[in-house]
Amino acid sequence: MATQEETFKKLVSHCKEYGFVFPSSEIYDGLGAVYDYGQNGSELKNNIKKYWWDAMTRLHENIVGIDAAIFMHPTVWKASGHVDAFNDPLIDNKDSKKRYRADVLIEDEIAKLDDKIQKEIDKARKRFGDKFDEAQFRATSQHVIEHQTKRDQLHDRYKKAMNDVDLAELKQIILDYEIVDPISGTRNWTDVRQFNLMFSTEMGSASDSASKIYLRPETAQGIFVNYLNVQKSGRMKLPFGIAQIGKAFRNEIVARQFVFRMREFEQMEMQFFIKPGTELDWFAKWKQIRLRWHKALGLGDNKYRFHDHDKLAHYANAATDIEFEMPFGFKEVEGIHSRTNFDLGQHAKFSGKKIEYFDPETKESYTPYVIETSIGVDRMFLSVMCAAYKEETLEGGDSRVVLSLPAALAPVKACIMPLVKKDGLPDKAREIENLLKFDYNIQYDEKDSIGKRYRRQDAIGTPICITVDHDTLNDNTVTIRDRDTMLQQRVNISDLPRIVEEKVSFKALLQKVAQD
Ligand code: GAP
Repeated sequence: MATQEETFKKLVSHCKEYGFVFPSSEIYDGLGAVYDYGQNGSELKNNIKKYWWDAMTRLHENIVGIDAAIFMHPTVWKASGHVDAFNDPLIDNKDSKKRYRADVLIEDEIAKLDDKIQKEIDKARKRFGDKFDEAQFRATSQHVIEHQTKRDQLHDRYKKAMNDVDLAELKQIILDYEIVDPISGTRNWTDVRQFNLMFSTEMGSASDSASKIYLRPETAQGIFVNYLNVQKSGRMKLPFGIAQIGKAFRNEIVARQFVFRMREFEQMEMQFFIKPGTELDWFAKWKQIRLRWHKALGLGDNKYRFHDHDKLAHYANAATDIEFEMPFGFKEVEGIHSRTNFDLGQHAKFSGKKIEYFDPETKESYTPYVIETSIGVDRMFLSVMCAAYKEETLEGGDSRVVLSLPAALAPVKACIMPLVKKDGLPDKAREIENLLKFDYNIQYDEKDSIGKRYRRQDAIGTPICITVDHDTLNDNTVTIRDRDTMLQQRVNISDLPRIVEEKVSFKALLQKVAQD
């Protein structure tokens, strides 16, 4: 059986071969951690965005959407703290000349110790079978106790160093735990330095009048600076939310795992403005609402977990990640943060404008608090693809690669196939295409054997294939074939719009999310 790593490699090449994701500027050998979405990838990505946008703006009458510009006044980033504090702690290995994030090196070491503990537990579970008591084993196994103590000590030191922004201590941890460069295998490290992640450019034509501006590293600030505009023009009452989807840019040093960590990526963010003092209740509610949104896709409830932050930003009073089980472990897909009144307060201070809310009930004015939900489109795309990618052996020894995508997200909803390229079957197939194409992204395919055509559609996750044969000309029926079960069924052409709608519509998905 293929390892997780091998399967992930196959998924990456599948993404390229079937028009989901291409390396950027590939004919010039690509550009590090920048990717282009192809004909199927962009459809899938658009569907993810639609699912999120509709769940936010249609299922909540107090959430509206905006689309702010990428370029913003440079003072925005001073006020938000990004100019001074949006840094990664970097360390170089003098032998390999490679640069790493010091925090990532240490987190990888913690993950290695977690793995060792898990291996001991798995071994013991196999040995003792049903009688195995994990809690007792953890408390008594000498090996587990040793690994756990080492892990906890490392974790505590790391947490403190990150909270204190103590770069010397980060380096000392790397030395004390004998963390080696994965390439050179040596411990010949430089000091740890801070590196700002924002990209900058110049706006204006004449060099003397041009000003330095930044490509936004998060979409959230476009929402904060429009808080008053939306509140006033929409006559919004607290609590209310502003949602936005858009590009963000970060000069990531450790860019890896395909579209998981990119330099140009897309975010779907929502800032929920609330009365101070209610934030922890809203934080708990938004955790559940967002988890329900993820689970409604049916990728597997056991593939999600919350990871509460050890290191809270100084302005946050709660933060968690929704992690998804990728082939390379549980990884953050979405962040949910209780950001207090920090951002609005900072913008009020730096702009000199009063940014408050007048509460008509209490007749008081105050700066609202904010709960933020922030999800990366590309990470969502990756989690959907990882869960959907399957290699199956079929009866008779044949095999197929199938993407079991949630039908509402599939790039192509149905493919119409005339059995042969003659006898009027293509014309009939085109009629069916016309029946469906105004509502759905449909393909028409008349090339190669039906079996080959099915495989092509399986590989891009098309939920339904519709075959037109000679009987169709007499009785207006077609064969529909289900992607996952491969079962075939004879149906009337007039029933196709209903059948396709029931299979691929967003409605059922949104209804699941709306349940309380
Ligand atoms: N406004 C809050 C914020 O930006 P974040 O945790 O830095 O918080 C939110 O980012 C989400 O954006 C992450 O959970 C992730 O899905 C996505 N994201 C962040 N950096 C990314 C990168 N370099 N490549 C792809 N997605 C990224």
